[in-house]
Amino acid sequence: MIIAIDGPAASGKGTIARRLAAHYGLSHLDTGLLYRATARVLLDRGERLDDPDRAVAAARGLALTDFDEARLRGAEMGEAASVVGAIPDVRAALLAMQRNFAARPEGAVLDGRDIGTVICPAAEVKIFVTADPETRAQRRALELAKRGEKVDYASVLADIRKRDERDSARSSAPLVAAGDAVKLDTSALDIESAVRAAIEIVEKRAGS
Ligand code: C5P
Repeated sequence: MIIAIDGPAASGKGTIARRLAAHYGLSHLDTGLLYRATARVLLDRGERLDDPDRAVAAARGLALTDFDEARLRGAEMGEAASVVGAIPDVRAALLAMQRNFAARPEGAVLDGRDIGTVICPAAEVKIFVTADPETRAQRRALELAKRGEKVDYASVLADIRKRDERDSARSSAPLVAAGDAVKLDTSALDIESAVRAAIEIVEKRAGS
């Protein structure tokens, strides 16, 4: 069973994807890490994020050691990833890696922006996780503060709005719910309720 989870930044999709993977004994790929790692390679080399040739070379050259999560999880890298993710050839360079991951016999859980629309259009279950921008900004600010980053709510909210706009407006694989995705709004849900709701969606889809 392939479970595709998409949605905007800090909607809760990452936590839901991880928990679904544990619940069903499936492997999980956080595809945002691929874009974040590509951006980090460019930044480390002092190269421009919006140079398609360099960005494609960085994406193609990614190694397992480039996924050191702590370095990738910061706010700066999320913003940088969204610049890199708007380059169609970068998306093409990262496509096979994601499809190979999803092709394991037992299936997998992938989360990102274009899993249900581009990477795994035939996924058995597609969930589009949303939450209003203010709630997402509160969650993200809390998460960054826990990681020891200096944050103020207003700039986190501005960053989230900017990222939503860039991810939704890009021409290649924009952030949009697949026609057959089930929408899950987590604005008023805590983690446990959101995970329960997601499991219910999977059970319904898998049973039908
Ligand atoms: O999900 P996360 O916040 O880690 O993603 C960082 C950025 O990477 C997103 O804002 C988006 O621009 C890009 N991304 C993408 N497609 C994916 C996953 C992430 O374009 N499947």
